[in-house]
Amino acid sequence: MKTKVLMVCLGNICRSPLAEGILKSKLDSRYYQVDSCGTSSYHIGSKPDIRSIDIAKKNNIDITRQRAAQFKKSDFDTYDYIYAMDTSNYQDIIALANNSLQNNKVNQILNELHPNQNLDVPDPYYGGDQGFEEVFKMLDQACENIASKLKKSDQ
Ligand code: 4NP
Repeated sequence: MKTKVLMVCLGNICRSPLAEGILKSKLDSRYYQVDSCGTSSYHIGSKPDIRSIDIAKKNNIDITRQRAAQFKKSDFDTYDYIYAMDTSNYQDIIALANNSLQNNKVNQILNELHPNQNLDVPDPYYGGDQGFEEVFKMLDQACENIASKLKKSDQ
């Protein structure tokens, strides 16, 4: 069975589509499944924001086939690891959890880079292109750590 990872932000059009694309690029799809979604219903069915598509493309990652979906309770059963982009997303996911097994699957993604600090991936939606560059860099570093951790634990 594949190890399954879910990336979660608010709209599923800016940050988590990038996190999905970046982590996928670092893992073998025969053994790992990576998806993303949002805690909100705002953009269900939409393509990623053009600025996320562009920064991904600049780094040779194609996220154009992604479509936004909303986080649902059954995701706790489907996925092994659930990464929230910020504290607010984290709290919204945890509010839907029923037990400690589900709680323990959820972490803030930047804790893989700066352990226990609960740092947010800033929401770049209302800013300019620079915000997307910074978000890409942060997510690339965090996903590098996630990929090596997953590969080690699955050996
Ligand atoms: P994301 O960014 O959570 O990284 O996809 C946002 C996208 C849209 C909105 C908020 C954040 N919105 O309010 O529509």
